Amino acid sequence: MNSILLAEDDALLLEVMCNILEAEGFEIHPAKNGKQALELFLNARPDMIISDIMMPEMDGYELLKSVRKQPNGVTVPFLFLSARTEREDVSRARSLGVDDYLFKPFDAPELINAVRSRLDRRHLVEMFDTRSAHLQTVIMLANVIEARDPYTAGHLERVRRLALNLAFALDWENEQIVFLEFGAILHDIGKIIIPSRVLKKTGPLDEAEWKLMRQHPEEGAKMLEGVDHLKAAIPYVLYHHELWNGSGYPMGLSGDKIPREGRLLAIVDAFDAMTTNRPYHVSMMTKDAIEEISQNRGIYFDPDMVDVFIRAYKT
Ligand SMILES: [Fe+2]
Repeated sequence: MNSILLAEDDALLLEVMCNILEAEGFEIHPAKNGKQALELFLNARPDMIISDIMMPEMDGYELLKSVRKQPNGVTVPFLFLSARTEREDVSRARSLGVDDYLFKPFDAPELINAVRSRLDRRHLVEMFDTRSAHLQTVIMLANVIEARDPYTAGHLERVRRLALNLAFALDWENEQIVFLEFGAILHDIGKIIIPSRVLKKTGPLDEAEWKLMRQHPEEGAKMLEGVDHLKAAIPYVLYHHELWNGSGYPMGLSGDKIPREGRLLAIVDAFDAMTTNRPYHVSMMTKDAIEEISQNRGIYFDPDMVDVFIRAYKT
């Protein structure tokens, strides 16, 4: 439940607003002046503040200034109630960081709309900020992986782009696409356990080295298990080496039993590996790589996804 701090010296208006907003399911902290509102703000940590401008003891401007100085008050939505429409007041409040105005007199729907739109906007901004902060951390981890394996420089970024394009072409939901980005960037994070002499080896790997290499999906999945916001990326990490005919690893799953995250990543990971120089092969031309993916339709790769991939790549 969202909580709102309401500061208004007109007792009747304060009561009416409390009733309107409580009926909408908000928790209200009423204050009859700025000073009381500031104390309540520090204790109750409301999700939003609605304040009159002219109030005894501490006016709305002082309240706004004091709130914005608090660490948790920098971004809290702040809405002024005002009977005044003078330009000077508006610009003063804007310079202090007010988010919006509600001019008196207002009716119940106006009040509810103003509150809801501010809270929705705040929620969106928070989600976006959190996601982009997480993405930055994930990119830093990816840079660590790539720094150990110079042959794959740029691979993660290319896989991310190819995976996004394929997911858009497949009409995946937006929520899934957020995790796809994390998954594409982190898919090889488990390679951190592989010694660099093995990663950089130009000849074929021996049996012990292959055994180690084949552990990277499970090792990577284990690393993400304890991280709440990255858990949803685990299927990309764990299943990206599973193959449609069951000859992949670590579980040897086949067909639809391979989660779709793994099926998608297997295609774009293989395509990028084919078109880039690696210690064990020189790069193929794009058209030859497309042909190779197409020939393995229904053998290594999900046939329907291959069709969409090829169609999307050619357009
Ligand atoms: Fe891998």
